[in-house]
Amino acid sequence: MTSPSPLPVTAPLPPVLALIGNTPLLSLHFPELQRTIYAKAEFLNPSGSIKDRLALTLLSDARARGLLRPDSIILECTSGNTGIALAMVGSVLGYRVQILMSEKASVERRHLMHHFGAELILFKADRGYVTGIEISEEMAARDSRYFLPRQFENPLNAQDHVDHTGPEILRQTDGRVDAFVNGYGTGGTLNGVSRALRAACPGVCIVAMEPSEAAMLSGEAPCCHSIEGIAGGFLPPLIRGVPIDRREKVSSEEALAMTQRLAREFGLLVGTSSGANVVASLRVARDLGPDARVVTILCDRAERYYSTRLFGDVKPH
Ligand SMILES: Cc1ncc(COP(=O)(O)O)c(C=O)c1O
Repeated sequence: MTSPSPLPVTAPLPPVLALIGNTPLLSLHFPELQRTIYAKAEFLNPSGSIKDRLALTLLSDARARGLLRPDSIILECTSGNTGIALAMVGSVLGYRVQILMSEKASVERRHLMHHFGAELILFKADRGYVTGIEISEEMAARDSRYFLPRQFENPLNAQDHVDHTGPEILRQTDGRVDAFVNGYGTGGTLNGVSRALRAACPGVCIVAMEPSEAAMLSGEAPCCHSIEGIAGGFLPPLIRGVPIDRREKVSSEEALAMTQRLAREFGLLVGTSSGANVVASLRVARDLGPDARVVTILCDRAERYYSTRLFGDVKPH
C-alpha cells in the first residue's frame, strides 16, 4: 500500500466534510395516534450515520493538538458506524486507518470500511469486545504511530453534541423541546444533546430508550437483541452523566416493524435503532399530549443491515 500523506492542518478541508452535521429535523405524523414527532435525519451524514460528527471532531482536535503526526495510524475497535465514519474522515484527511472488529461483524460494514480505504483487523468473535480494546491498547503500547480515538471514554464524544447537535435542534424547534428520546451505544449522543437541551429548556423530559432484551438501565441482565448499534452489553461511562427522567424499553420486534414502516410509509431508509427511537418517542408523545414536541434521532442508513433480520427474504409476487 502507498503511504498516505496527511492534509496539512492549515489546508482547506475536503468538501465532503462540509456535509457533516446541520441535518434536517423531519416532522413525522402518525394519524392513527394523532401525534407528530420530530426526527433528526442523521442518516444523511456523508458516511451514513451520526458518527461522522464524532469522527470529524475527534480527528480535527487531534490534528490541532499535534497528536496526529504525518506517520500516525488511526486505530479503533468498533464494528459499527464509528468505524465507517473514521474510515471515511481519516482517509480523506490522508491518514492510515485500521479498524479492529470481531470476525462476526456484518459483511456490509466490512465492505464499507474497506471501500473507504481502512485496513481491517479481525479477532475471534468468542473473545468479545473487551478483547478488541485490549488488542488496540497492546498495539498502541508497541508502536507509537498508533493514535486511539477511544470513543467510549473521550469527553469530546458528548461535547460535540453539546456544541452542535443540541444547538441545531434548539434552532430547528425555536427553542421549545418537551422531550428528547434516544438509545445509547457509547451514550455520547444522549449525554451531549440532553445537556444542551436541559440548559435551554429546563423542563425537557430526557428519555433513554433501550432494548427490552437488554434493559440494563432498568437493572436487567443483557441478552441478545436485534437493535444494532445500541446496548452493547455494558453501561458505557458516558451514560452516567445523563439526566435521565424516563426509560423506555422497546423490543426487537417492535423496532424492526417500525423501521420497515418508516421505509414504506415515510420513505426513510434507516437502521433498526431509528425505528426503536420512533417507537419510544410515540409512547412519550402519547403521554405528553398532541402539542408536545418530542425529538428523536434517525441514527443511520438501512443499507448496512442487508444481512440482518431487517431485510427478510425478498419473495417475488
Ligand atoms: C445505529 C446506532 N444507533 C445508535 C447509536 C448510539 O449512539 P451513541 O454512541 O452516541 O450512544 C449508535 C452508536 O454507534 C449506532 O451505531
